Amino acid sequence: MTLVIRDVRDEDGEAMYRIRRIAFGGPREPDPARGDNPYWPDGFEGWWGIVAELDGHPAGFLRSRDYRQFFGGRAVPMGGLASVAVDPYARGRGVATAMLDRALTGLREAGQCISALFPSVPALYRARGWEQTGLYERMILPLDLLTALPRPTAHRTTRPARLEDLPALQAAYLAFASTVDGMLDRATKAHRLEEILELDIADLVPGTDGVRGYLTADRPEGERLITFDLIADDPDTASQLLRHLASWAGTLHDVSLRVVDQAVRDLLLAQPVLHDVRNHPWMLRVVDLPAAVAARGWPLTALLRPLAVDLEVVDEHAPWQAGRHRIVFDGDKVFCEPGGTGAVRLHARALGPWYAGSADTAMLRRAGLLEGDAKIAAQLDALTGAPRAVRMADSF
Ligand SMILES: CC(C)(COP(=O)(O)OP(=O)(O)OC[C@H]1O[C@@H](n2cnc3c(N)ncnc32)[C@H](O)[C@@H]1OP(=O)(O)O)[C@@H](O)C(=O)NCCC(=O)NCCS
Repeated sequence: MTLVIRDVRDEDGEAMYRIRRIAFGGPREPDPARGDNPYWPDGFEGWWGIVAELDGHPAGFLRSRDYRQFFGGRAVPMGGLASVAVDPYARGRGVATAMLDRALTGLREAGQCISALFPSVPALYRARGWEQTGLYERMILPLDLLTALPRPTAHRTTRPARLEDLPALQAAYLAFASTVDGMLDRATKAHRLEEILELDIADLVPGTDGVRGYLTADRPEGERLITFDLIADDPDTASQLLRHLASWAGTLHDVSLRVVDQAVRDLLLAQPVLHDVRNHPWMLRVVDLPAAVAARGWPLTALLRPLAVDLEVVDEHAPWQAGRHRIVFDGDKVFCEPGGTGAVRLHARALGPWYAGSADTAMLRRAGLLEGDAKIAAQLDALTGAPRAVRMADSF
């Protein structure tokens, strides 16, 4: 068996469409309405990809989307791994693993110092250093529950969003998303803002300067409304948008509400004692530790004295970041420099949850991902504010 991993080429389109279709389902033929090149309808912008060839035949595919993800208020370059698929006959022989090894080098070369993915097979990604880190949630809520919510106390109206409103919607999204660790900035070529206008509902609440909030949703066949974004600057705007949803009571039975803003879920909605929350957790991996430390924001350091934590990173699949590092907060900025005593040992899988702040060092220790002095390690929690919920509102 000869396995070759290489960059994707235009002419791979048909073979890769077939491998992805068999893996994830979909029509036998691509939709001809999707442009000049239906096999690559989005072209080659906003992502890079690799192909596995087994004995000269294409047998596997993986892509990394160019994203940026907010941590500490700054948007960090992130490679979103997606479409990982291996032809059924070629599975179980290490093809996907070999593609992940190549992807790690590719991520680093692309300047994507962190990488996230939605795993259907966590063991595969764990073995290469990705770890469960964040939430992507949907709540299933009966629509009649929304009709009981209070009316806005200040005047708010809604109107449909138009093409010229897209920058204001994006600004409203960004003002919110930059305050939530894990959110994408939706500002790279991997995103197409106009897609909002293809949805059944894209309505906004105008403000004196820009928009106060907006709602995007689809009304598919069946009894359930599907929401995407519900962004609101203030409680009256949120009430207006929730009442907008409530207007479907009577026609539809429930709403699948994507949990974008935890304030809407926990502080504004009245949740029934029993309700369904469907989570689609995502994994994170640090690909280039010094670059990742330099790229994120560290807002909690305003409360800290200068500190230095000596790390020994165990990472055989990203050897460029294995070994001794010192994480330093010098009273001004946080950085990662080589050297130190290696007082705290962090395994590759610990890096993602630590970086995001989703797991504290006591949790990482209990999971066998961290060893060494507990007091020194706890300083790593002080930097990120761990443990805290980390959330994304896009899936890929
Ligand atoms: C998942 C998939 C890409 C794996 O490809 P592969 O080439 O068979 O993977 P590998 O041979 O490199 O497997 C490496 C490890 O991953 C794990 N793994 C792979 N497939 C698995 C599965 N279906 N269920 C559970 N674990 C699995 C195993 O731990 C395996 O290690 P082992 O061989 O020591 O048991 C392939 O089965 C596929 O295309 N599935 C359908 C699409 C899909 O689910 N893609 C993942 C999207 S996130």
